[in-house]
Amino acid sequence: MPASGPIAAAGIQSQRLLIIDFGSQYTQLIARRVREAGVYSEILPSTVDAAALATCGARGLILSGGPESVAAEGGPGLPEGLFDLGVPVLGICYGMQAMAVHFGGGVAGSSKREFGPAEIKVHGPSRLLSELKLSASDGLAVWMSHGDKVVAPPPGFRVTASTGSAPIAAMEHATQPWFGLQFHPEVTHTEQGADIYRRFALDICGCDGDWTADRIAEDAIEQAKQRIGDGRVMLGLSGGVDSSVVAALLSRAVGERLTCVFVDNGLLRKNERQEVESAFAPSNALSLQLVTVDAKDEFYAKLAGVTEPEAKRRVIGNTFIEVFERTAKEIEGAAWLAQGTIYPDVIESAAGAHGKAHVIKSHHNVGGLPERMALKLIEPLRDLFKDEVRQVGLRLGLPEALLNRHPFPGPGLGVRILGEVRPEYADALREADAIFLEELRAADYYDRVAQAFAVYLPVKSVGVVGDARRYEHVIALRAVETVDFMTARCARLPFELIERASSRIVNEIPTVSRVVYDVSSKPPATIEWE
Ligand code: XMP
Repeated sequence: MPASGPIAAAGIQSQRLLIIDFGSQYTQLIARRVREAGVYSEILPSTVDAAALATCGARGLILSGGPESVAAEGGPGLPEGLFDLGVPVLGICYGMQAMAVHFGGGVAGSSKREFGPAEIKVHGPSRLLSELKLSASDGLAVWMSHGDKVVAPPPGFRVTASTGSAPIAAMEHATQPWFGLQFHPEVTHTEQGADIYRRFALDICGCDGDWTADRIAEDAIEQAKQRIGDGRVMLGLSGGVDSSVVAALLSRAVGERLTCVFVDNGLLRKNERQEVESAFAPSNALSLQLVTVDAKDEFYAKLAGVTEPEAKRRVIGNTFIEVFERTAKEIEGAAWLAQGTIYPDVIESAAGAHGKAHVIKSHHNVGGLPERMALKLIEPLRDLFKDEVRQVGLRLGLPEALLNRHPFPGPGLGVRILGEVRPEYADALREADAIFLEELRAADYYDRVAQAFAVYLPVKSVGVVGDARRYEHVIALRAVETVDFMTARCARLPFELIERASSRIVNEIPTVSRVVYDVSSKPPATIEWE
């Protein structure tokens, strides 16, 4: 189901806060902060149906910021009947301004955006802000990002904080649980921002705070048990975090009725197959069936002569489906297909359906497979953010090293070998990548960067190794710092580390004559080279 309506309230999701999204870049952060406070939260578009909103049992609502102006024609309005639900409402930035206009306050546009750190002065008493630890002058460091601002509070509201440039930086109703903040408590630059969300979610909305990793895991196992009954499930296990956590979770739910299919497509990292086989070998904690399919030659044959990145993605995706389908036929009686879809995928595909997302790269998935194979789909991580998936994985006993691995694209090394994929390029790249990651780990940098890898550039360059001339290919090293992978900057690794990796790569891999370090940011460059 796309995130256009709330999901049915059940179990630990029954105490929930809804976040109405007006298009802010920080909306997902709001949802995560609320969950960190121990309360389940869900993001809905501002066009959400009023009736759906009324029946989903939300304990409170948060109105996000957004890029539009409340004064502009056609800017998104508040969902109808919002304030009749009788639950607390917190408006952030655009959300506060929309609330102010709704109740007859004044909002003024501005040609200049205020963006960056600021200090608010809190004027007590405030039900939302009074518990914060303020400076001697009642100050709190916050993060601002706005053009418009509220210039006159609506009747019944009082101003609870101000800054030099935004005299109404926070407001709240005298008797109703309606609050507005011009700043962004979800951004880490706002001091005690997490406390503001905790105060709202727990004290003001009255939630118990029982959305914790232990209970999420228990609940997900129980729900999977109930849905699957005595059916048999298949899972395409890639060795990445999401499918690994699904495997651990479903193994607890259905045991040996789970069959994981791991496809060695020849585009994996060094030792990846052995690592997956040993992490998922049946043990006391894990009872599942693991089928490894060696399909290297089939992938290489299909990729021969294919050079265009999107064409390569299609070939890899389709070949995966063919191999998986063939293997599945040998598994008797499978009725379910499990997938590691997580909440940001759900939000992004819903945004895509609303026409907001622009596809730069098609990401590899197995869409279409369940219908073709007449399988029912189960996605136990569909409501979870990545950090929650990791927490659940830890609770289920998966190794920390596996859970903290950098993301690896579905098409694997296929999009890290520029142009045509050849087996000998994949072998050399695997070695170069392993050397780079080994050096990163040794220097304690692996966990300090979001993603790091080597790229194979099949252009010839002259080098000299020992006394001999070498006319061979080039390896690029890439390491980035990013939180959301939407934007990224090149990691400022110590030069000695890059030098050490470079020297080892050229000395240990005879088909490489040169190593370069990629210093581009995203945008304009993407993280992967293809
Ligand atoms: P880009 O290259 O778009 O990458 O800046 C952003 C993140 O997405 C990963 N990525 C992929 N993941 N299939 C995937 O499953 C793909 O085709 C794909 N392309 C990029 C990339 O590794 C980075 O984490």
